[in-house]
Amino acid sequence: MPQKIRVGVIFGGRSAEHEVSLVSAASVIKALDKEKYEVLPIGITPEGRWLSTHEALKLLKEKSAVDDIPEHILVPDPRKRGLVLLHKASATDDARQVDVFFPVLHGTYGEDGTIQGLFELANVPYVGAGVLGSAVGMDKVIQKHLLQQAKIPVAPAVWFLFPEFETHRKKIIGQIEKKLRYPCFVKPANMGSSVGISKAHTRTELIDAIFLAGEFDRKILVEKGIEQAREIECSVLGNDDPVASVPGEIIPSNEFYDYDAKYVDGKSAAVIPAKLLKLVTKKIQEYAVSAFKALSCEGMARVDFLVTKKTNTIFLNEINTIPGFTPISMYPKLWQASGLSYPALLDKLIELAIDRHEAKKKLKTSYTPKKDWYKG
Ligand SMILES: Nc1ncnc2c1ncn2[C@@H]1O[C@H](COP(=O)(O)OP(=O)(O)O)[C@@H](O)[C@H]1O
Ligand SMILES: [Mg+2]
Repeated sequence: MPQKIRVGVIFGGRSAEHEVSLVSAASVIKALDKEKYEVLPIGITPEGRWLSTHEALKLLKEKSAVDDIPEHILVPDPRKRGLVLLHKASATDDARQVDVFFPVLHGTYGEDGTIQGLFELANVPYVGAGVLGSAVGMDKVIQKHLLQQAKIPVAPAVWFLFPEFETHRKKIIGQIEKKLRYPCFVKPANMGSSVGISKAHTRTELIDAIFLAGEFDRKILVEKGIEQAREIECSVLGNDDPVASVPGEIIPSNEFYDYDAKYVDGKSAAVIPAKLLKLVTKKIQEYAVSAFKALSCEGMARVDFLVTKKTNTIFLNEINTIPGFTPISMYPKLWQASGLSYPALLDKLIELAIDRHEAKKKLKTSYTPKKDWYKG
């Protein structure tokens, strides 16, 4: 029997979306085919402490011919803040190296490129976008710039740093009211699950909303409210040649798709596939794939749109590089509706992670100049 692939499923994390990640990870672990995979659950506490750290640390260990040289590593545990001596791992730990990481982490320190940087340094395959795609996918302001560059329609917006607002409040409010009017949406640039997001209908609400968003990020994005819009989501899968799923529609239980509507009240509904004109479906799939490429995504992403009810005007709202993975989450459900079961989707994601790693391994990381270039 071929050796099972050891998958390190990482969950929790230093994020406002910690709890959501636990639900997603439980469902990923359940659905991974145990005939093919050995699952190693790795937890990260809200403070950033790694549980089952030994296995992760083992991965980072650089093999050396000389066994007794004390090895130091930078541990991803913020309490250490530096290099620590890696004690000789026990015999049982040796058997627990990870073949591929599956970060089922949402939001900060999981979906934003930071942990992906750690995987890169450790030279181990991992599911999903790399450092750049993750960072760009997380920052709603940078993301918007790149989408505009790729000629993908987005809601008009104003952005600023929170300290700027404290000193130039009048000017910034003036810009927002002139360019966007009310209602507008105020968002921390780097967040997810609607945490810190408000819909502002008046100047007073706008100011409160900015202060709330400022609790989560220094960078604030204010967008024109797209009124009478449907929430359409589309899943994308692939590395160099990504493909789009059928789109689905979310019918939020609240005025907008806030945290409660997403996870708490259980009243939001999903319509899969979304009832859209063929032409609109096609356009959404095209934009989803173009955005995936323009934002340097890899593996997977869920691309969310706002589509106006009357005129079918499409706005790309945001991209999620580690979308929800609960059994009722849109990302796997849209693939299911497109003919790919949840376990088959996980197989594909792991295959894509390994493919990317193999392709990257072939690239040179050193260079020897042909001529003596140093004339000093
Ligand atoms: N410009 C907008 N116009 C109308 N609704 C919006 C707009 N921006 C966000 N929303 C609503 O707020 C929700 C959360 O915003 P989003 O940008 O997707 O943040 P998150 O990353 O937290 O999911 C959206 O699903 C939508 O319901
Ligand atoms: Mg969203």
